[in-house]
Amino acid sequence: MTSFATSPLPGQDHYGTVVTDLDPAALDDPAVRAALHSLWLDTGVVVFRGIGGGIDTQLRLSEIYGEPEVHPMMAGTDIRTEHRALAPIEFDRDDGNIYEIGGELRGGYLPWHFDGAYVDRINHGGVLRPEVLPGRGGETGFIDQIAAYDTLPAALQQRIDGLSVVYSYQPDLTKAKFGERPDRLVQMSTLFRKGMEHPSVQVRAIHPLVYEQAGTGRKILHVSPWFADGIEGMENEEGDALLREVISYVMRPELMYFHQWQPGDMVLWDNWRMLHCACGVPPEERRIMRRTTIVGDYGLGRREAVAA
Ligand SMILES: [Fe+2]
Repeated sequence: MTSFATSPLPGQDHYGTVVTDLDPAALDDPAVRAALHSLWLDTGVVVFRGIGGGIDTQLRLSEIYGEPEVHPMMAGTDIRTEHRALAPIEFDRDDGNIYEIGGELRGGYLPWHFDGAYVDRINHGGVLRPEVLPGRGGETGFIDQIAAYDTLPAALQQRIDGLSVVYSYQPDLTKAKFGERPDRLVQMSTLFRKGMEHPSVQVRAIHPLVYEQAGTGRKILHVSPWFADGIEGMENEEGDALLREVISYVMRPELMYFHQWQPGDMVLWDNWRMLHCACGVPPEERRIMRRTTIVGDYGLGRREAVAA
């Protein structure tokens, strides 16, 4: 007997699931856990509408999908405290990212990306939960890269077969080479600025442009517009034009889903296959989210070889 109900994502028939009527007590049931695990890998993004229950439910839910990632600095501390401390995503007017986009100021805006593009290891996903929601804005967007691959013309699928993309950390979104670019940087957070000095971002990362989902063989168009520098071995006009053409197929409204947050929601995604973005909030609004990160690595990323 199923202990929850499922329905399609509103306005999106390519991917994703909405789960309702899930009692957090059922999260210990092995059959429920197996069903929820399959939904994640089959459909890419799962909205748990009105699950409620706070941080404990969020952690129990995350543990179905794998080990939550422990930050090395926090090793040896209580894992629940560590998660609470590790994963706030908070827009703070005094020290948050603010951009001007189309004449509007937006705080906490993040363009389309998958997590970890600029390093070689890519986590398997996350669970987001709102603590303080803004009066306006704050949606989280998703794009499925399996659906995106399927929209490519066969000739383009053949052309990109075997290619890889080079990525580097770029905290200033007005300098992004591909994808959306805000009109003006108003303020950059300390966290983003300090990211530039981190040892892990000093050497560029390389990821395949297409790969197959383990277990299903479905092809994933694996490109994060944010952080992309170009195609490996083709960082020139021709390669950039090719990558732009590929990205134009990804950035189609029919492949996008924007989650409108309600209190009690949690959203889970598969970072090995989905792109996500944060639409941002008017700077006078507050938005506080908590996220867990599901540990793992798809094993296909590498570092660029640097001459000694
Ligand atoms: Fe992200």
